[in-house]
Amino acid sequence: MNILDIIAKKRDGLELSSEEINFFICGICDKTIADYQASALLMAIRINGMSARETADLTISMMNSGDVADLSSIGAKTADKHSTGGVGDTVTLIAVPLAAACGCKIAKMSGRALGHTGGTIDKMDSIGINSELSVEELIKNTKTIGCAVAQQTGELAPADKILYQLRDVTATVDSIPLIASSILSKKFATGADVIVLDVKTGSGALMKTLEESKALAKAMVDIGYHTDKRVCAFITGMEQPLGRYIGNRLEVYDAIMALSGKSQGALLDVSVEIAAKMMELSMDIGHEEALSMLKTALESGAGLEKLREMIKAQGGDISVVGDPEKLVIDSKSEVLSEVDGYISSMDTQLIGEAARALGAGRMKKTDPIDFDAGIIMNVKIGDKVNKGDMLACLICADSEKIKIAEEMMKKAIVVSLDKPIIPPVIYDFIQ
Ligand code: URA
Repeated sequence: MNILDIIAKKRDGLELSSEEINFFICGICDKTIADYQASALLMAIRINGMSARETADLTISMMNSGDVADLSSIGAKTADKHSTGGVGDTVTLIAVPLAAACGCKIAKMSGRALGHTGGTIDKMDSIGINSELSVEELIKNTKTIGCAVAQQTGELAPADKILYQLRDVTATVDSIPLIASSILSKKFATGADVIVLDVKTGSGALMKTLEESKALAKAMVDIGYHTDKRVCAFITGMEQPLGRYIGNRLEVYDAIMALSGKSQGALLDVSVEIAAKMMELSMDIGHEEALSMLKTALESGAGLEKLREMIKAQGGDISVVGDPEKLVIDSKSEVLSEVDGYISSMDTQLIGEAARALGAGRMKKTDPIDFDAGIIMNVKIGDKVNKGDMLACLICADSEKIKIAEEMMKKAIVVSLDKPIIPPVIYDFIQ
């Protein structure tokens, strides 16, 4: 077997065998395949695509290029969720404790903020939660409390890191089989039996159109089918931020409000659906039963109590659960509407970038985060506003950063005279 024949085969639109795909992945890891050859194959894949079987083989080979967590000692099926990245998307901090309060076992590995989207680990850092758990600690906490959220430990799918760096500089990032295998190789390596995906669609999402989002969701569900893993995907809207609060401590606040029954809306709706699906598939119960258990966990405060237990077990500041107001600092500046009309659309990516400009995210990997900084949205698509009404509130102690973010927010929130169609929160579910 040699890499030239493999490149030529994919260039000619033929299907690669499992052995050829594994040869490629082993070769990029042990450096017997040169970067220019790997890049040529990536371009051939980008142009000619991959079958579901090839994509599944690529995922498994990439998963096997590094550590694979073994969660079997938890003694029950485990569930995990993964979002393709959103703005104001704090679903993990709601869905995980809620489902765990209902008996679901969730040993979750999460990431940091990426580009304009937030990351669960940064939100956890913002209240002092230790996310540097070993796999043994992750398992122990999941056994005793029902859930644990940690940073990815060990070396998960190192082949993905190599390929991603090449894709980034060869115009091959936007390939559905390459994205799907990249996401799921890392998720599979974290060891959960059930994976519920939240594929975002719209202006703030990785995939901007519904068609692309459906194609990505289907590619990932197909990988599950070909690898005997339970994978399903929601397609949810990112035409506007999911929750009202964007930023690290602000999103912890939003999660506590939702779990306390003090806020309703899209964030809670998506969280409940994802929690229900994790329960159904890992606990073998029906949708109605899962929803009814979740309703009870919300109303009784059991979900909030589970969040408190998780924060405590991971060394965080549990006082924020009883006194969430201290998560929202007073240094605020308002963005006002300059005209009368309806909120007709939002550039959600730009809103995420504005939050990052305020300090809620990083421009470079090494940048520090201002945990207090962020945005409180005061409007949703379809709301009627008058000139001078507050559209959003910016939180940051630095007036220069506020000025920059204010300009971005004025561009990002579009007010027009026509009443818009309100976009759905959940577009589709694929399994
Ligand atoms: N996220 C990933 O992990 N990989 C991709 O290719 C795109 C988004």
